[in-house]
Amino acid sequence: MTSTTCYLNGQYLPLADARISPLDRGFLFGDGAYEVIPVYSRRPFRIDEHLQRLQQTLDGIRLANPLTLAEWRERIERIVAAAPFDDQSVYLQVTRGADAKRDHAFPAGVPPTVFVFTAPLTTTPDAVRAAGVAAVTALDNRWLRCDLKVVALLANVLARQHAVDQGCAETILLREGFMIEGAASNIFVVKDGVLLAPPKDHRMLPGITYDVVLELAAQHGVPHKVREIFEAELRTADEVWMTSSTKEVLAITTLDSQAVGTGAPGPLAQRMYDWYQQFKDEVMRRG
Ligand code: PDD
Repeated sequence: MTSTTCYLNGQYLPLADARISPLDRGFLFGDGAYEVIPVYSRRPFRIDEHLQRLQQTLDGIRLANPLTLAEWRERIERIVAAAPFDDQSVYLQVTRGADAKRDHAFPAGVPPTVFVFTAPLTTTPDAVRAAGVAAVTALDNRWLRCDLKVVALLANVLARQHAVDQGCAETILLREGFMIEGAASNIFVVKDGVLLAPPKDHRMLPGITYDVVLELAAQHGVPHKVREIFEAELRTADEVWMTSSTKEVLAITTLDSQAVGTGAPGPLAQRMYDWYQQFKDEVMRRG
């Protein structure tokens, strides 16, 4: 079986041959940052914004960025070019490296581990998109720096599995009566023609897709508000959407076994999806 090319600590090599130490702090402590960048027709989408968010995460965990913006771009471009598929999902990760011992406190003089690999972008099948997906809710038991895109994702993993165990696509997390986000997505709500989005703060990941959706809403004159969303509003919404780099804009049509709105993707979800595709096409054409 052939293996795609990855980048690891200065080297380009087949993914199957990449090796890191079991003492890597990413492995021992989940001590690292990551990004997932969608690539359409071999062009990374919103790469600057992703690299900027990586910088915010690294600042938040006090880890110096090992590469300049130009160096990141160069490595990502090379990985994308080497892959045998056009639409991709590029994953990059920086951890605090591997010390000779296990100690919670930061090691001195240990180089970070830098890893980049790519995979085919998995798109949502048309039939699934047309029907919408089911979601469940759960209490958000994560820490209070959910704005950082860190590899310590166990709470998100358990939340996502909670959905999968019930045949659902996503778990929507609730904290103190507020709707926060999904296990691996941001969540939007539509009520009486107004698009509602929770504010970017320490409780949720500032999604790149979230930003695009709000920009498109403004551009197309859709009434929208960024404010706290109560659990009760989520449960009585006309439409609920999940957004992420890999899911784009996907309607949630069942929530905790109850139909959302009519039980079919709402009109605004469909329009937003179309605007998103148009926007992608324009951006990619412009290069
Ligand atoms: N996850 N919130 C959480 C908790 C996420 O993990 C993600 C994305 C998002 C959406 O962010 P963006 O629009 O920038 O993809 C929101 C990625 C795709 C992942 O972990 O695989």
